[in-house]
Amino acid sequence: MCGIIGFTGDKPVKNILINGLEQLEYRGYDSAGIAVLGDKGVIIKKRTGKVAQLREAAMDLSDGALCGIGHTRWATHGGVTDVNAHPHKSGKVVIIHNGIIENYRELIVEYGLKNKLVSETDTEVVAALLDTLYSGDPIKTIKKAVERISGSFALCIMFEDHPGVIYAVRNVSPMVAATFGDCSMIASDITAIIPYTKKYFVVPEYHILTIDKGNIKCENLSGEVIEPEMLEVSWDISSAQKGGYPHFMLKEIYEQPDALDRTIRPRVSDGLPFLEEDGISDSLFDGIKNITVVACGTAMHAGMVGKYVFESKLRIPVNVEIASEFRYKDPIIDKNTLTIVLSQSGETIDTLEALRLAKKKGSPVLSIVNVKGSTIARESDYVLYTHAGPEIAVASTKAYTVQISAMYLIACRYGLVKGIISEDEAREFIKNLENVRSIIEDTLKNANTIKMVANRIMISPDVFYIGRGIDYTLCLEASLKLKEISYIHSEAYAAGELKHGTIALISENVPVIAIATEKDVYSKVISNVKEVKSRGAFVILVSHDDDINDTSVCDMQIKLPEADSVFSVFATAVVLQLIAYYTSDAKGLDVDKPRNLAKSVTVE
Ligand code: F6R
Repeated sequence: MCGIIGFTGDKPVKNILINGLEQLEYRGYDSAGIAVLGDKGVIIKKRTGKVAQLREAAMDLSDGALCGIGHTRWATHGGVTDVNAHPHKSGKVVIIHNGIIENYRELIVEYGLKNKLVSETDTEVVAALLDTLYSGDPIKTIKKAVERISGSFALCIMFEDHPGVIYAVRNVSPMVAATFGDCSMIASDITAIIPYTKKYFVVPEYHILTIDKGNIKCENLSGEVIEPEMLEVSWDISSAQKGGYPHFMLKEIYEQPDALDRTIRPRVSDGLPFLEEDGISDSLFDGIKNITVVACGTAMHAGMVGKYVFESKLRIPVNVEIASEFRYKDPIIDKNTLTIVLSQSGETIDTLEALRLAKKKGSPVLSIVNVKGSTIARESDYVLYTHAGPEIAVASTKAYTVQISAMYLIACRYGLVKGIISEDEAREFIKNLENVRSIIEDTLKNANTIKMVANRIMISPDVFYIGRGIDYTLCLEASLKLKEISYIHSEAYAAGELKHGTIALISENVPVIAIATEKDVYSKVISNVKEVKSRGAFVILVSHDDDINDTSVCDMQIKLPEADSVFSVFATAVVLQLIAYYTSDAKGLDVDKPRNLAKSVTVE
């Protein structure tokens, strides 16, 4: 949440900052701002709204300055106003911040900062504190301030009397940095840096960076200089651009066949799952009796699909926990529990804290993460990286399906190692998993029918999703996706639960999207469908049926390619993602940046 960027070098900084903020905008889009430090001292331009509005506001800013910082905000403390937008300046100090300063009230009182503040933000308190402590030595001042502030922070700081230099420090909130030629750059994530270089490093926590033209010094709070480990991204700038698609979300939906291939194929050897090269040796599974999955939102829904496979195919008990709940209870886990953590960003704060708690309880932690070098990846005992490439749209799509595929690989390896499934069964499972690429490609051919469904539901205030077993977990994800980007109220129900209350909500023409891919319960779902149909619902059936002409069953049908329900989930996911996408688009909404949201939730 919140995107930050800093640049210093031999190039005019204004457009570099604004272009970078456009790349980071998915992290928050309540307001945006930049501060440049040139011959005329610090000049700040900031305003509510998206980066495009900032670009306009900065038109009159000359291109002279070569050093500056920029911010795109997801509001936490203080409303969405120009004054609360970052950067914040106090005396000689100008800063941007991602995170939450928990003790900002105490700091105001302790240092008598009240009169220095004009905004309602926690960030400005840090600016005022730095200014109060400043005696001409930026590093000393930052050290003193960092010792006093608590909470999560990624801070970029400029001192007006130190032109050309940016200082940075972080705790929890992500920050990466890079140098290229005579330039240096820092940002919340690599998407802002990748147009210039693929080599970068993750800023270590509680280390102060001094960022000069083409040179970055990294020292710990005792003053020891360290050489951070360099990383290299495997994708290029085109992966973070729309590439001809109207929205990132649509592009990311269509990228799923490749993303799945990249995630699955390197982990298959001789037709069997193989995780050794990821550092996941079979001994990890020794003594494991049960599994706990922790994650948030869509990632948690991917965990629910994984649970279904572990339990139905391997008979291993799996608990799926919402990370923000898990971390505040006393979870029943120990060394015999394998904790699987799922996170696209690898930075979600509740998931990170859940991971820390699991480790404290002695449970080995295996994380499934998309962003290389992210905090969750670094703190886990084992990591299985998904290779979805950058996911820019706020609504997660490709990260979800690759997370499911990673859960399947782990389940298959687990079953094989424990002798629960035979080699032949494992080979068959992997063959089907490798085939999901073509299942998705076939499903994408249905885009026009799906668009018709979206055109029907866009006018409805409520939409219901129903299904049983694995299809129910897909309903939960479908409902989240629709709410998130179309703002239509939606609920997901286990089809058998309807008559225990919810069916009272079914009235004339209410859309009910029924997912029915499980053979064992197919007739039961159809019975539930008929129950809603006979009460006036407009039913859209998502199933394998070739053709259903019986209008007592459904009004519209989306046919999925033939596959076992465990592998059909990939097709169903695509259908449900497209329904949400086309509905949002038909309503003329900002599909990629839905209101009130941001990607990478680094606040609790
Ligand atoms: C919904 C969505 C969120 C994320 C959740 C976890 O479309 O994207 O529900 O899945 O915020 O994020 P990560 O996976 O980054 O931990």
